[in-house]
Amino acid sequence: MNKTLRRPVIAGNWKMNMTPSKAKALISELAPKVEGKNECDIVLCVPFVDIAVAKEAAEGTNIKIGAQNVHFAKSGAYTGEIAADMLVEAGAEYVVIGHSERRQYFGETDETVNLRTKAALEGGLKVILCVGELLSQREQGITAEIVSLQTKIALQGVTAEQMKNIIIAYEPVWAIGTGKTATADQAEEVCAIIRGVIAGLYDDAVAKATVIQYGGSMNAANAAELLSREDIDGGLIGGASLKSEDFSIIVSAAN
Ligand code: 13P
Repeated sequence: MNKTLRRPVIAGNWKMNMTPSKAKALISELAPKVEGKNECDIVLCVPFVDIAVAKEAAEGTNIKIGAQNVHFAKSGAYTGEIAADMLVEAGAEYVVIGHSERRQYFGETDETVNLRTKAALEGGLKVILCVGELLSQREQGITAEIVSLQTKIALQGVTAEQMKNIIIAYEPVWAIGTGKTATADQAEEVCAIIRGVIAGLYDDAVAKATVIQYGGSMNAANAAELLSREDIDGGLIGGASLKSEDFSIIVSAAN
C-alpha cells in the first residue's frame, strides 16, 4: 500500500570505472534501452571527471547524473576534495554519501557522513546515504543496531523537510561485489528496520515517503524479487550498472 506512495529510484554506482569517453558511449547505449521507462527515477553516479560529459550525453533522456562523494566545506584548503556547488555546476543532481568502500578504505566515519550529508543538502543535491553491516556484525546478531546507529548519526540535524531529498541505501557490506546477494527477506527486514528508525526520528509520514534502496550484487536476475518487497523502493547497483543491458533490465523490473 505505502509502497505506491514512493517513486522507485534505480541508481548505478560506477565506482572507479569509466573514462569520460567510455561514459559517453555507455550512456548512449543505455538511453534507448530505458527510454519510456518512467515509473522510476534513473540515476548514474559517476566519477567526478565524468559528470559534465555524462550530463551532456544524458540531455533529453530520462537519465539523471550523480557523484560519488562530496566534501562538507563550501571551499578552502582541502586538496583533492570536491564541494557541493562544484558538483551541481558540473551537472550532478545526486550524490552518494557514506558508501562502505569510503568507510573501509578512506576513513569515512558516521560523523563525517553526517557533515557531508548536511553540506550536500544545503548545496541543493539529493543524497543517497549508504548504511550497512559487515559480515562479522551480521554474525554477531547486531545488524539492526549497527544500521540504526549509522542512520541516526547520519541524519542528525537533517530536517523533516530535507528528508524529501534523502534516499537511504541499505548495502550489507558482505553482499557488495561478492555476488552474494542478501535474500529478499533479509533485505526487506533491514529496510523495514530503517523505515522504523526514520519514523522514530521524524514521524510516520516522513518514514512512508522516504525511498529506501537495496544494494549489494543486485542484478538482472534478482532485481524483480528484491524490488517487489514492501520496503525496498529501488536499488543501488555497482557491477551490473556498467552493462547497459543488465542495468536496463533492472530499470524494467522497477517499472
Ligand atoms: P555491486 O552491485 O557491484 O555489488 O555493488 C553494490 C554497491 O556497492 C553499489 O553502491
